[in-house]
Amino acid sequence: MKLQLTSAIALASAASASWTQNINYHSPSEHHPSLGISIHKVVKRNDLKSPWDPVKLNLTRGVASGDPYPNSVILWTRVGPSSDNGKSNVTVEGTAPLYSHETGEYVAASKAPVCVEYKVYKDKKLGNVVDSVKIYTSSDIDYTVKVEAKNLKPYTKYYYQFNVCNSNNKSPAGRTKTTPNADDGVTKVGIAIYSGSNYPFGFFNAYGNTVRKDSVDYVFPWIPVWDDHEVADNTYRDGMSELNNTEQSFVHNGGVAVGQHKMNAVRAYFEWIPIPQRTFSIGKLIGLVMPDTHQYDRSITDLYWNTDYIHEISNDAWDGYMSNKNRTLQHLYNNNINNNNNNIFLSGDSHASWVSDLMWLENKPYDPTTGAGSIGVEFGGSAVTSPCPYGANISLATANNYSAILQTANPELQWQGLYYRGYYEPHLSKKEMSANYFGMPTVVNRDGWEISLAKFTVKAGANKLQRPVAGGKVESGSLKGGKTVQANATADTGSGKWFVSHEKLEVL
Ligand SMILES: *[C@@H]1O[C@H](CO)[C@@H](O)[C@H](O)[C@H]1NC(C)=O
Ligand SMILES: *[C@@H]1O[C@H](CO)[C@@H](O)[C@H](O)[C@H]1NC(C)=O
Ligand SMILES: *[C@@H]1O[C@H](CO)[C@@H](O)[C@H](O)[C@H]1NC(C)=O
Ligand SMILES: *[C@@H]1O[C@H](CO)[C@@H](O)[C@H](O)[C@H]1NC(C)=O
Ligand SMILES: *[C@@H]1O[C@H](CO)[C@@H](O)[C@H](O)[C@H]1NC(C)=O
Ligand SMILES: *[C@@H]1O[C@H](CO)[C@@H](O)[C@H](O)[C@H]1NC(C)=O
Ligand SMILES: *[C@@H]1O[C@H](CO)[C@@H](O)[C@H](O)[C@H]1NC(C)=O
Repeated sequence: MKLQLTSAIALASAASASWTQNINYHSPSEHHPSLGISIHKVVKRNDLKSPWDPVKLNLTRGVASGDPYPNSVILWTRVGPSSDNGKSNVTVEGTAPLYSHETGEYVAASKAPVCVEYKVYKDKKLGNVVDSVKIYTSSDIDYTVKVEAKNLKPYTKYYYQFNVCNSNNKSPAGRTKTTPNADDGVTKVGIAIYSGSNYPFGFFNAYGNTVRKDSVDYVFPWIPVWDDHEVADNTYRDGMSELNNTEQSFVHNGGVAVGQHKMNAVRAYFEWIPIPQRTFSIGKLIGLVMPDTHQYDRSITDLYWNTDYIHEISNDAWDGYMSNKNRTLQHLYNNNINNNNNNIFLSGDSHASWVSDLMWLENKPYDPTTGAGSIGVEFGGSAVTSPCPYGANISLATANNYSAILQTANPELQWQGLYYRGYYEPHLSKKEMSANYFGMPTVVNRDGWEISLAKFTVKAGANKLQRPVAGGKVESGSLKGGKTVQANATADTGSGKWFVSHEKLEVL
C-alpha cells in the first residue's frame, strides 16, 4: 500500500513542477533550518498563470554535477531572464537601503516563475531518459537550480541536460557518474584533485585535461571542500582580514556584521556549488572524509597586522595545528591503524606540490631512506592557476632551488615542487595506489598541454611511499635521494600528440 502511494506521488510531481526539489531554497546547514528561504512566501509572490516566455530565458552558466552517491547525484545549472532589467533607464542615485523590498522604482519585479526541467540519460545520444523532474527557480536564489537526480544505478556513467520547461531552450549536456555501493568490490578507481583556481592568474586549462584524456572516474572540485577564501579574504571563526568582529568594523562595513557577511557568502556558495554531502565511499576501495579545516573553528588567521606571528605558527599547514595533528596520529596508533594499513591524506591549497611519508616527528622513529616508521602517505597538489608561493614569475631554476631547501629541511618530505601549476591523479586498486602529478607549461594561453612531473606508488598495506620514491627521477622540483631531469615532454590532451614544449617558462 505504501509503495503504491509513493509511486502516485512521484507521478504527480513529474507532471507539475516543484519548488521544494530545488535544494537551493533549503538551508545550507541541516542543523540551522532557519537559514533556508521561505518557499511559502516565494510561492505567494509568483503567479503560475503568467510564466516566462521560454525564449526570454537563458541558461547562462552551463551545467555541473557533484557529490555522487550510489543512487543519486547533484545536478546544477542557472536559468536567468537575461533581459530582466534591460529596458530600465533609471539611474540609481545616492544611497539605497541594504535590504530594500522596493519592487518598482528601477524596474518592475516580475511575478513570472522560471520553470526548468532536467533529464538524465543512459546514453551519450540522449535517447534513453532514466530520471526527469520539473522544478522552479527565482531571483531569491539567483535563478540557480540544484536538484538531486535519483533512481540511478550505482557506479554508472550518465548524461544529463536541462531545458526551460515546455521548450527547446536547452543547456549543454553534461556527463556524470554515480559511486559504487559501499559493499561493492570495485577493483579500480581514478580520481583527479584540483585546488587553487584563481581566474585573474590564468586559464583553468587543467580542468579540461582529465576530461580530454578521459583518465579518471571522479574529479574533486566536484566533491568540493572550501578553504578560507569563499567568504572573504582569510575567513576564520571570528571574522576575516578586512572585517573584525567589532562595532567599529561593523559600521565601516556598511552595517553588515561578521555573522551576516558569512551567512550571505555561505548561501551564495551553496547556491552556486553542487554540494550538500561530506562523507563518501567508493565501494570497498575508498572511504572518503571531507573535513572543514578553515571556516568553522579556526580562531586566528592572517589579518595583515599580525602577519609575522602567523608565519611563525604555520597557520595554513597541518603543522600549525600540532595538538590536532597529535590527536589524529595518536588515534591511528591507539586503534592500530598504523600497521599494514592504507592511510592517505589528500590535500591542496598551498599552490605547490608535496609528497611525504606520514610520520610522527620527535615521537616515533622514522627512516627517510627506507620509509620504516611511516604510518601513511600525504599528497598535496599544486594550484590550477594560483601563483607559486615564492612569486608568480619565478624561474624554474630558482623554484627548484627553493624546493631543494624545503626537501632537505624535512626528513619525511620526499618530493617538493614549486614551479608548475597543475593537479594530481590518484589511481587506486586493491594492489596499490599510484599518484600521477601533472604540470601545465603555461596558464596564460588556452590549451590542453601538460607535462608529467612525477609518479608515486604506494603498495597496499605498506603505509609508505614505494622505494625508490618516484622511480628515482622527477621532471622538476626536488626529490630526496633522486634526480631531477627536465625533458619538457609535453602531451597535448586535445590531440593526444606529444612534443617538446618551448614555452617561455618564466611567464606562467
Ligand atoms: C541568451 O544568451 C545569448 C548568448 O549570450 C544571447 O545572444 C541572447 O541574446 C540571450 N537571450 C536573451 C533572451 O537574453
Ligand atoms: C526612459 O524610458 C521611458 C519609457 O521608455 C521614457 O519615457 C523616458 O523618456 C526615458 N528617459 C530617459 C532619460 O531616457
Ligand atoms: C581590525 O583590528 C585591528 C587591530 O585592532 C586593526 O589594526 C585593524 O585596522 C582592524 N580592521 C578593520 C577592518 O577594522
Ligand atoms: C605533539 O607531539 C610531539 C611528539 O610527541 C610533542 O613533542 C609535541 O609537544 C606535541 N605538541 C602538542 C601541541 O601537543
Ligand atoms: C609576470 O610577468 C608578466 C609578463 O612579463 C607580467 O605581465 C606580470 O605583471 C608579472 N607578474 C608578476 C606578479 O610579477
Ligand atoms: C641554485 O642553487 C645553486 C647551488 O646552490 C646555485 O649555484 C645557483 O646559482 C642557484 N640558481 C638560482 C637561479 O637561484
Ligand atoms: C626545457 O625547457 C627549458 C625552458 O625552455 C629549457 O631551458 C631546457 O633546455 C629545456 N630542456 C629540454 C631537454 O628541452
